[in-house]
Amino acid sequence: MDSRTVALIRTTFKAVAAEEGGPEKLASSFYATLFTDYPHVRDFFPAAMDSQRDRLVKAISYTLDRLEEPNKLLPFLAQLGRDHRKYGVKPEHYVAVATSLKTAMRRFAGTEMWTDEVEQAWDDGLTVIAETMIGAADQEKTPAVWSGTVVESRSVLRNLTVVRLQLDKPMSYAAGQYMSVQVPSRPRMWRYLSPAVPANANCEIEFHIRSVLGGWVSPAIVGQTQLGETWLLGSPLGGLGVPRNTKRKMLMIGCGTGIAPLRAQIMSMAQRRTNPKVHLFVGGHYPCDLYDLETLSRLAVANKWLTVTPVAENDQNPWWYVDSGEPAPEFPGLEPRMTGQIGKIVAGFGSWADRDVQIVGSPSMVQTTKFRLMAAGTETKNIRHDPLF
Ligand SMILES: Cc1cc2nc3c(=O)[nH]c(=O)nc-3n(C[C@H](O)[C@H](O)[C@H](O)COP(=O)(O)OP(=O)(O)OC[C@H]3O[C@@H](n4cnc5c(N)ncnc54)[C@H](O)[C@@H]3O)c2cc1C
Ligand code: HEM
Repeated sequence: MDSRTVALIRTTFKAVAAEEGGPEKLASSFYATLFTDYPHVRDFFPAAMDSQRDRLVKAISYTLDRLEEPNKLLPFLAQLGRDHRKYGVKPEHYVAVATSLKTAMRRFAGTEMWTDEVEQAWDDGLTVIAETMIGAADQEKTPAVWSGTVVESRSVLRNLTVVRLQLDKPMSYAAGQYMSVQVPSRPRMWRYLSPAVPANANCEIEFHIRSVLGGWVSPAIVGQTQLGETWLLGSPLGGLGVPRNTKRKMLMIGCGTGIAPLRAQIMSMAQRRTNPKVHLFVGGHYPCDLYDLETLSRLAVANKWLTVTPVAENDQNPWWYVDSGEPAPEFPGLEPRMTGQIGKIVAGFGSWADRDVQIVGSPSMVQTTKFRLMAAGTETKNIRHDPLF
């Protein structure tokens, strides 16, 4: 795509998105057109569409923000195309989605902005997106969906559950990747989860799930998961991970269940002979939120290249936390726990100029931490995180 085409697409999208309620109106109009003009497509989507509206528009803006970086965008779209096989999407559905999106854009941009040249630019852009997704899906030999039987569901905090599944066939994801997951009590509501262990020959996979207040899916997983039930998993996604021969040191920052893809990478690195130095900061609101210190302690003791610093925003547990009365467990190999906002604490160590950085957590935690690090002099190109939708 040439730079003029990219500029025309971005300008029209940004103009529409910048208006009061723009993204929500665009999403509503897009879905109204899609479901009216192509009614058969409705069945792909869940009955309740509120969160998806938000996610789809975020996905589109994420894509448009990267139109000028094909080396990042094309692999992302290829992964998305392979993952969309789980819906049974066919090439004609891409025409339906592209046409409906263009109709919604045209309506909001208005005739003055929506010139023939703009229309052509959107056609070109959407063709690249669809062709990349369709092409990657066509070439993929791995299954469109894996199924997994729940073999363990363990409540580790009042709002956090660890679920272990036995997959029906091997899945060779890279440690640090995530995937779409559908649970039986929430049909067609796929949500991303990050395995907390590397891919293994036993076909076992483990997820750490925090219940989000008011969420559709996570409270159902934390409250209702039954042994023996079957979950569906889509293709692996995402680009976190440590290259095999890297000599660059790493800085990993994870909050809450954000520890999952980081510990999977550390476990995978522990199976190699040589590794760069890794400093992991693991955070939570309260000391009791640091639920995985035992595993991290074992990893730190066994691997001299690993430093782990726990960080809690508050130094006391909340009033509702029931202390067991047992003496506090010792976690050898860990640095003393620090208290404060995790981004501020990590940035307080300096610019981490010699490190590749990964940040995992809620969207607001990722944004704030990235901002703090950049203010401390960390170069943006050295910071990686997953898409925030
Ligand atoms: C790449 C990636 C990997 C992920 N890995 C994991 C994982 O390993 N474990 C895990 O528990 N979750 C993980 N998530 C989050 C997960 O996919 C869901 O978004 C989350 O469980 C909420 O889903 P829900 O259906 O309960 O809420 P929804 O019904 O989708 O949303 C309800 C409300 O909660 C808000 N919300 C959604 N997610 C969050 C959040 N994380 N923090 C605060 N508010 C939120 C929404 O904006 C909305 O207002 C990951 C997300 C991404 C993008
Ligand atoms: C034009 C290119 C497209 C892009 C960039 C895109 C991107 C996305 C993204 C990022 C998500 C959210 C994550 C997920 O659940 O996978 C999503 C969800 C979804 N997409 Fe697409 N998509 C495209 C085309 C299509 C097409 C052609 C269909 C078929 C009709 C489709 C059907 C769906 C469905 C059913 C969902 C899930 C909705 C939900 O869980 O609430 N997508 N898409």
